[in-house]
Amino acid sequence: MKLIAGNWKMNGLKASVAELDALLAAPAPEGAELLVCPPATLVASFARRASGSHVKVGGQDCHWLESGAHTGDVSAEMLADAGATHIIVGHSERRADHGETDAVVRMKAQGVARAGLVPILCVGETLAERDSGATLEVIARQLEGSVPDVRALVIAYEPVWAIGTGRTPTTSQVAEVHAAIAARMGAGVRILYGGSVKPGNAAELLAVPHVDGALVGGASLKAADFLAIAAGAAA
Ligand code: PGA
Repeated sequence: MKLIAGNWKMNGLKASVAELDALLAAPAPEGAELLVCPPATLVASFARRASGSHVKVGGQDCHWLESGAHTGDVSAEMLADAGATHIIVGHSERRADHGETDAVVRMKAQGVARAGLVPILCVGETLAERDSGATLEVIARQLEGSVPDVRALVIAYEPVWAIGTGRTPTTSQVAEVHAAIAARMGAGVRILYGGSVKPGNAAELLAVPHVDGALVGGASLKAADFLAIAAGAAA
């Protein structure tokens, strides 16, 4: 089963439930599990609506602590209480916008596991790092610094230069990085590819060895596109 996860980022209002409803109305895709990660404001209502269905609901980030004096933050326990099953941590936009380091990402991933949820931990190189031939070294360093010692974990390989740009690595570049991550993490850890996944390239990317699913940004906002991507899992 491939995991097809939608990262809505800072998009979505109450009316966006129409997209969730369209996912719920469609038959469960063959060979794929669906996860939608809307903004924190929508997690509870989406999880309630999707309860018992083939669609899971997740968070996009959390604080590493369970509760306390951290104005504006949301904990993994709160997202669990709202019905989330997974939480994305260490997305490159969080690393860039909020200065999150590997050490912070590791604490967050531990917090997710403490709350009984599955972290989706993102790693990926910048274009400068790829151009200088440092990709595998960067990924190894990020994994070394941010992977916690937890039972259930998903890794998302997201080249920073492929996010929201319409550019994707070649399938052999994806294969190289996913093989390196798989060798390091061992069996049982799912590895998603993320970065400009679209209906037109999903089947090809999902067919790459060690690609166990996709983390989809822009194309996850429309149910029709998200379902078309998930259909690529069966191809
Ligand atoms: P994108 O984003 O699909 O819009 O490139 C992917 C992500 O940032 O998770």
